[in-house]
Formats: sequence, C-alpha cells, structure tokens
Amino acid sequence: MKTFQALRLFETEAGGIPDARFVTLSEDELSPGNVLIRVAYTSVNYKDALAAAGINRIIRNYPRIGGIDLTGTVARSEDSRFQEGDQVIVHGFGLGVDRDGGYAEYARIDGDMVLHLPEGLGLFDAAVLGVAGYTAALSVHWMEHNGLTPAGGPVIVTGATGGVASVAIDILSGRGYSVAAMTGKAEAHAYLRELGAAEILDPAIAVPSSRPMDSARWGGAVDSVGGEVLGWILRTLAPEGVAASFGNAGGAEFGASVLPFILRGARLIGINGNSPMALREVVWNKLAGEYRPRHLDRIAEVVTFDQLPGVMENMRNRLTRGRTVVRMRSA
Ligand SMILES: NC(=O)c1ccc[n+]([C@@H]2O[C@H](COP(=O)([O-])OP(=O)(O)OC[C@H]3O[C@@H](n4cnc5c(N)ncnc54)[C@H](OP(=O)(O)O)[C@@H]3O)[C@@H](O)[C@H]2O)c1
Repeated sequence: MKTFQALRLFETEAGGIPDARFVTLSEDELSPGNVLIRVAYTSVNYKDALAAAGINRIIRNYPRIGGIDLTGTVARSEDSRFQEGDQVIVHGFGLGVDRDGGYAEYARIDGDMVLHLPEGLGLFDAAVLGVAGYTAALSVHWMEHNGLTPAGGPVIVTGATGGVASVAIDILSGRGYSVAAMTGKAEAHAYLRELGAAEILDPAIAVPSSRPMDSARWGGAVDSVGGEVLGWILRTLAPEGVAASFGNAGGAEFGASVLPFILRGARLIGINGNSPMALREVVWNKLAGEYRPRHLDRIAEVVTFDQLPGVMENMRNRLTRGRTVVRMRSA
C-alpha cells in the first residue's frame, strides 16, 4: 500500500466548523499504532455527526480522521496477539476523536485497543453493531445485572429509531421483553414493529411535571434522549425498575426527585461504552451469542465512502434511521 483515501477534518478557526476533505495519505501520516488495519466497514454514530460539525468541540486536535468505530482485517502487526488476516473491531479509546479513526482505508492502532471479532460475527454484522450495538448490549447487560427481567413489566426505549435504540429493541424483544418504543418519527412505526416493538409512544407524553412520581409503567428504560424525557422516565418507573442512561440527544439536564429511588427502589444506571477491554470481550461475546440481534439487515443502511459527509448532515437533522454503515473498497 503506497497511498490511500481518507476523509480528514481540518480546523478553520478555533471552535469553528471544521473543513472535511477527502485526501490521499500515506501510512506514516496516520496516528501511530503497532497494528495496521485495512478498514472494511466503519459507521456513522451521533458523536461522529456532531464532531464533523465542530459541535461540543469533540475533536480538539486537527487534522483528524473521524469515525469512532471500524471493522477490518489486520494488514501488518508488530503485536504478537495479532496476525495478518485477523478480523478485528476497534471502537472508543479516543478513536476518531483524539486519534485517527475509521474514515480512511487504513488505520494504525495500538494493539491494546484492538479486539478480535468474536466467533460467529462477521465484519459487516460487527460494523452494523459498532459502538451503538455495543452500547445497547452493555445497557442490557447492566440492566439485567441490576434485576431487570421480562416479568418486571415493559421496557421503554427512547429515540427509538436511532442506532443504539434500534439494536436495543431488537435485543430486548428477542429476550422476551415487551418493548415500548418512543419516537418522534410517525413514518417509522412499521420499522419499529418489525424490530419487535409491541407499543409505540409519542414523545409528547413525556412532559415536565412538578410531581415527584406518576403512574408506574416501566420495568426498564433504555434512554438515548436524556433531558426532560429522562426525568419523566424516573417518575414512571415501576417498583424495582431499572433505567439505563447513555444519551443526551434531547438535552443534558433533567429534573428529578429522590422519591422514586427511596419509595420505588428505582435504579438509574449510567452507561459508558468506552469500557475496559475485559468487559468488551464479555459483551461482544454476548452480542455474537445470546444477545444476537435478529434484524441487523433491516437496521443497516449501507452507504459508500463518498456519501459520508451527507449522511452526517442528515443525522444532525434527525433524518437517519437505524445504523448507517460505510462500506469501504476492501469490503
Ligand atoms: N454513553 C455512551 O457511551 C454512548 C454510546 C453511544 C451513543 N451515545 C449517545 O446516545 C445517543 C444516541 O446515539 P445514536 O448513535 O443512537 O444516535 P442516533 O442514531 O442519531 O439516534 C438518536 C435518536 O434520538 C432521537 N433524537 C434525536 N434528536 C433528538 C432531539 N433533539 N430530541 C429528542 N430526541 C432526539 C431520534 O430518535 P426518534 O426520531 O426516533 O425520536 C434519533 O434517531 C446520543 O446522545 C449519543 O451521543 C452514548
């Protein structure tokens, strides 16, 4: 490999909107790492879409190749744990933010950040899952660890057509949970029912209130939205209900009372997908096994590398659905 294509972000002014340009690079222009990976697939996550527009100053050092997850094949390795031809996945640890990420035909990654694909999961399926699928599975993992069972009542999934939420609906319905999907997209009801949603809710029901609790409805909640929606979830969790919070698509601040915690035993757990490696191995093995989603082809929207900038803009404008996977030339 002499040169290859990358989508690189360049700083225009401090804190401004970066300039995204397709460029031709050589290997030594990438962030350093002892495993060279030929990227097969990458994807578009909400964080990628914000980073590309300079929102929240997610990327601080330029030029930078975005893309917070990738799957691919090892092209060369100076780390004895990896051999040429191994199929791997990388996400988190600053990928696409503090170090060059998946939006290039090659990535150089430190071996400590690289995970072999679990048995039974191919490069495409692992990319459809990506950070989003991992976050959905991690939520279910910790919710069940905290007592969630199908007998506890329905589980509400908010921002339901999003990447994390779509995979969460699929995993939960496959495990026998009754899933209520909250979406602002009226046209997506059939899609959500195909993934396994039993009930569809409009976000308009999640209105702010000064009441500390409302009628108990949910055995669990998987929340992409945050803000007032999370406050409403806490007010409506059933006794011993478990809510997983990982997103802020609708806002970061929320109002809440301690009463759901002390009178209903409500459990609010935080989910950070940038887990240590040992936990990743456990959760990725579950994704390849007992959690394996049944509708990945339905969830995936496959695009080419040159479509990437437009897809990120659509995601910021809430026009995407499910997971957008970028097929690279080597796939
Ligand atoms: N903690 C972690 O480690 C971690 C990991 C992955 C993702 N996240 C976060 O989780 C959230 C979802 O990520 P994603 O990749 O699934 O994003 P996504 O595919 O863009 O999905 C987000 C969904 O939230 C809803 N939404 C978007 N804007 C909204 C708004 N202004 N108000 C209310 N709802 C809105 C939309 O669903 P509907 O149109 O169906 O309502 C949208 O599809 C993001 O906040 C992301 O940063 C966190």
